[in-house]
Amino acid sequence: MTYRRQISISSPMMQRWSKKKNHFPLLAFLFSVFIVASILYNERNIQQIHENNEQQQASITQESVLTSVSPTISGKEKKRRAIEGIDRFTTCESTRKYSGRKIERVDRTPDSEQRRGGLEGCDISSGKWVFDNASYPLYNESDCPYMSDQLACRKHGRTNLGYQNWRWQPHNCNLKRWNVTKMWEKLRGKRLMFVGDSLNRGQWISMVCLLQSVIPADKRSMSPNAPLTIFRAEEYNATVEFYWAPLLVESNSDDPVNHRLEDRIILPDSVLKHASQWESADILVFNTYLWWRQGPVKLLWSSEEHGVCEELDGLGAMELAMEAWADWVASKVNPLEKRVLFVTMSPTHLWSREWEPGSEGNCYNETTPIDMEGYWGTGSDLPTMQMVEKVVGKLSSKVSVLNITQLSEYRKDGHPSIYRKFWETLSPQQLSNPASFSDCIHWCLPGVPDVWNELLFHFL
Ligand SMILES: *[C@@H]1O[C@H](CO)[C@@H](O)[C@H](O)[C@H]1NC(C)=O
Ligand SMILES: *[C@@H]1O[C@H](CO)[C@@H](O)[C@H](O)[C@H]1NC(C)=O
Ligand SMILES: *[C@@H]1O[C@H](CO)[C@@H](O)[C@H](O)[C@H]1NC(C)=O
Ligand SMILES: *[C@@H]1O[C@H](CO)[C@@H](O)[C@H](O)[C@H]1NC(C)=O
Ligand SMILES: *[C@@H]1O[C@H](CO)[C@@H](O)[C@H](O)[C@H]1NC(C)=O
Ligand SMILES: *[C@@H]1O[C@H](CO)[C@@H](O)[C@H](O)[C@H]1NC(C)=O
Repeated sequence: MTYRRQISISSPMMQRWSKKKNHFPLLAFLFSVFIVASILYNERNIQQIHENNEQQQASITQESVLTSVSPTISGKEKKRRAIEGIDRFTTCESTRKYSGRKIERVDRTPDSEQRRGGLEGCDISSGKWVFDNASYPLYNESDCPYMSDQLACRKHGRTNLGYQNWRWQPHNCNLKRWNVTKMWEKLRGKRLMFVGDSLNRGQWISMVCLLQSVIPADKRSMSPNAPLTIFRAEEYNATVEFYWAPLLVESNSDDPVNHRLEDRIILPDSVLKHASQWESADILVFNTYLWWRQGPVKLLWSSEEHGVCEELDGLGAMELAMEAWADWVASKVNPLEKRVLFVTMSPTHLWSREWEPGSEGNCYNETTPIDMEGYWGTGSDLPTMQMVEKVVGKLSSKVSVLNITQLSEYRKDGHPSIYRKFWETLSPQQLSNPASFSDCIHWCLPGVPDVWNELLFHFL
């Protein structure tokens, strides 16, 4: 059976995009997508994922990719049996097309009780950004000792600081006002854990920065950077943790520092090793998305003993991983004891022509949000959203969705662009064209992720 990626050709968004594409057939931008290895103090290893039009095109006609890509196996690296675990040196002995194999499902009957949180009938993800420099930012960049150099835009030279001053205003109701004392009361005696990729790590740093100011310096601590990084507040006996699992299931990208981006291999039916890290947390905030957007993924089933991988497009592989995760949630989460939230796609702003037709840049130099209601760019993949909705919908009483996609779509001004630390040396050629190395994926702090955390606060 051949796996077909579900792209609805009739979707207006896809049509709009395909049309635009034809206007730029020779577009030769090579955008660097930075997904960064480690945070806090000793970040060194930065890896780049190159995304370009060709690649996007390729993932759209992924069937041809599936049949034309041949695996490259490094002769030096000996494969390991899946059963022994996976690391960044794991390779596939050989690769074949995806067989259509699925995860065996735990029975999940859809629940009528939708856990939307907040006010009945109010969709807090529909609204607008309001300039509010009286209440925002909620903290100062330089006051947060746990700030990441990847996100500290002011420190790295950004002078237009308007991105810090926007409040999210839902159309039909108000968000609960952020109150740090109340948040700590909710967290007393609990473990709040963020699990996912560098976007989720940004949200975790935002949460730590939002929370840390009221805890005296000698009553708080941060563990060293590791797969699991832990912020502790003694007087509340509470922790705010981040666990690196960019693909949710086990993969060869699980080393938080030296993670591998090329030739990604996942164990699609294995979340248990990761789950042993997160299962005792009281509040879990998951995300996963961008790591699935970098072309095909190799699958190594845990029963496979000969290192034979199957290859599948990113969306299909993400669905398998989400199903494995959903099985864990369905079988292990008692909603009376544990809160589980899933954060939807964080949009990227790699092509300014999407919000300003005719322009050729990206998020670099953007200083104001997009004010077109319902704006949706190609950084947010609709088929992915539909898949997430389907998987999470079946867990509705156990998982709340933090639907940050639409509100973040408006915030083309919120990315670091060139105002962050870059770990590799930038060439004179790059420096002469700042857009070429701009980070239009992560978000400056204080900024957009603070609002994601206000949504989280609203939901708790
Ligand atoms: C807020 O913005 C207004 C208009 O841009 C400006 O006049 C005012 O000084 C600002 N207030 C603060 C506290 O920055
Ligand atoms: C940020 O710093 C400014 C000046 O240093 C101060 O006036 C303001 O109250 C601080 N804001 C917060 C949220 O701490
Ligand atoms: C925050 O919550 C605490 C306790 O719940 C309350 O006493 C305090 O007034 C609130 N602060 C603000 C600024 O609303
Ligand atoms: C602190 O919280 C943990 C759970 O995170 C709990 O097991 C422990 O009993 C708590 N300790 C105190 C002193 O409340
Ligand atoms: C950035 O914006 C400024 C002010 O709007 C403008 O003068 C400058 O040319 C822009 N730079 C680029 C590279 O677009
Ligand atoms: C998130 O909100 C958008 C509209 O803003 C909606 O299209 C999408 O289905 C929602 N996603 C989920 C998983 O609920």
